[in-house]
Amino acid sequence: MKIIRTPRSMTAWSEGLRREGVTIGFVPTMGALHDGHRSLIRAARLQCDALVVSIFVNPTQFAPTEDLTKYPRPIAKDRALCRAEGVDVCFEPTARAMYPEGFQTTVTVPALARRWEGAARPHHFSGVATVVTKLFGMVQPHLALFGRKDYQQTALVRQLVKDLNLGVAILVRPTVRERDGLAMSSRNVYLSPHERRMAPLLFRSLQTGRQIIEGRKSDVATIERIMQQTIEQEPAIHVEYLAVCDPDSLEPLSAVAARAVLLGAIRIGSIRLIDNLLVNMSGRKVTTQVFRLTAEDCT
Ligand code: PAF
Repeated sequence: MKIIRTPRSMTAWSEGLRREGVTIGFVPTMGALHDGHRSLIRAARLQCDALVVSIFVNPTQFAPTEDLTKYPRPIAKDRALCRAEGVDVCFEPTARAMYPEGFQTTVTVPALARRWEGAARPHHFSGVATVVTKLFGMVQPHLALFGRKDYQQTALVRQLVKDLNLGVAILVRPTVRERDGLAMSSRNVYLSPHERRMAPLLFRSLQTGRQIIEGRKSDVATIERIMQQTIEQEPAIHVEYLAVCDPDSLEPLSAVAARAVLLGAIRIGSIRLIDNLLVNMSGRKVTTQVFRLTAEDCT
């Protein structure tokens, strides 16, 4: 496995392969890789000829009060996982290379970033949209993979790829969970054993919401109240939001619909956890597309 640190070498590597008709898959990450990342890497490995994983803890998506300096950076472990999964390139740019002096352009996706995580973390999504756009420019992938756990991020990335004609296929893969339902996240390592025991309540509350919708028994306000009550069993958890939303616009639904996404964020002590569940009763199954990409598909 090759480790590439500069944007220029990254692009040169990709351009060389593209000229030969090789398809490039890309998994952008901030490191601290877990089984959720592993599932993205494996899916990319199956669908593309060459595979790049970026490891870059992007400072512009953290607020000054957030955990940028504390964010876990187990680089040796991350590289070992990438090597074991057959990754061809680990792209590890420095912050200075990503944001050189004089850098001033940002990418925003205002409507999709307005609510939920965007409201709780005001500059977060412009940081994400900007870094993803830059990484796509440097890596020039045919296909990029994201985890559904960050549902709002995936909606935003799809939109920016479409709006800016970036020509990258986006594949969103299901959330990988611990045995008790907690969505895997690099931030789970911050939870104390006691907090860790409470954490699956978020998933349980979303499951309760989904069951009620599937039973077609209630209105949105009641569903949100029941989801909230499921979590309130544990007074140490603070609910930031639990909402039934349109799965495309992420706007709150006023009536239960055949397609919805349940979005949730909680705080346990100083740790924020997010999760979501899709509901689809329209007959169209929510499945992951499985295909193998050829260079011709992407021209
Ligand atoms: O999901 C993440 O890990 C990050 O938001 C991403 C997409 C790598 C951008 O920094």
